[in-house]
Amino acid sequence: MSAVERFASLEHRLRGVVSALPPAIAVRLFSAGRTAFAKRFATDVPREHYVPPADVSVTAMGLTFRMPLWNAAGMFKGGEAYDVVAAQGAGAYVAGTTTSRVRTGNVRDGVQWPAVPYANSHASSNWMGLPNAGHRAVASRLATLTRVAGCPIGASVSAEPGLDADVAVAELVDGMHMYADAGVDYIELNESCPNVPGHAHREALDADLVRRLDMIASHVLAKRSRHLPVVVKFSNDTSVEQLPGVVQALHERGFNGIVVGNTSTRYAEHAALIDQRDRALYDHFTATYGGGLSGAPLRSDSLALCGVAIAARTACGAGDAFEVIRCGGVAGADDVAASAAIGVRLNQWYVGYFEAFGRAGHRVYRDVVSRMRS
Ligand SMILES: Cc1cc2nc3c(=O)[nH]c(=O)nc-3n(C[C@H](O)[C@H](O)[C@H](O)COP(=O)(O)O)c2cc1C
Repeated sequence: MSAVERFASLEHRLRGVVSALPPAIAVRLFSAGRTAFAKRFATDVPREHYVPPADVSVTAMGLTFRMPLWNAAGMFKGGEAYDVVAAQGAGAYVAGTTTSRVRTGNVRDGVQWPAVPYANSHASSNWMGLPNAGHRAVASRLATLTRVAGCPIGASVSAEPGLDADVAVAELVDGMHMYADAGVDYIELNESCPNVPGHAHREALDADLVRRLDMIASHVLAKRSRHLPVVVKFSNDTSVEQLPGVVQALHERGFNGIVVGNTSTRYAEHAALIDQRDRALYDHFTATYGGGLSGAPLRSDSLALCGVAIAARTACGAGDAFEVIRCGGVAGADDVAASAAIGVRLNQWYVGYFEAFGRAGHRVYRDVVSRMRS
């Protein structure tokens, strides 16, 4: 066991203690600890390399994913840790989210990149605000990676928040070209970060977003000189009524799929799914920072929305050519099976991944595969 695995295992067992601390102290401690842990994790390449068996691999969007699950965007913002998760057996990798300009992210009350776990609820909140080194720096890093077969490399991008819309979209298009030139295998357009201005679309398809999608369709999708799927990530708060229109709009413009989805800001609605022992911390964090809620409370929403997206892609004639990727509350083999049962072939996880890493260490993907087959 590496020191990082030992620490994660201990943290996993003691995590409930965070909720017993005064909330402001819990936020301060966990936010600093998370940043320090992420740095160590990114260099802890397992000695043993796990290759998932061929029968769990998925061919989708013209790419081979050796298993139907990988780490969600936002975990490796600087393009780090590909060799870590590839050695663990992940089905793919995604860097970012990056923006056109370097962002330092959110700081409030002296807390940089506020985040907390709700250990008893298998959930977490963050209000990080997309800290990142910019498209160019991360694309340059991805260009140097040695690809592991069946573990495609993705990039997550977003328009720079707070800029004039025309400037933002022009810089976004440039950034997507940088990733195309860097040789990435797919791009995820993040339209759903609740922690920066401009992402909280009141309507799922507001005028700014439609213009951005049109620009990307004509300046990126239509100009692809090689196979490069582009998918768009929406919130798990997207309304069931609006989602079919979103799927149709993406398909019509040549996007290759949708990720459903990102964190939630429906704090009051999800409060019932937060364990009483975590409630003081939850109420403090959502009242002080707001932020995005991740983990188990999103499980049924992500599954239901993916079901709606699957029906919508059939209705608009896209069929399998338009991929529906589930993200939100995925915690392991049972969720992957539930996704498959409604026709969803690919999944991503964030909170569930770190819980599973706390239990299984670097054997995290091996463990999922063995449960998928049992
Ligand atoms: C600390 C943290 C940072 C995140 N940063 C990003 C990000 O930069 N880009 C993005 O698309 N999603 C980001 N997310 C959202 C996750 O990718 C995912 O959509 C969300 O956590 C729901 O999945 P989960 O329930 O498996 O955690 C972040 C989530 C967390 C917890």
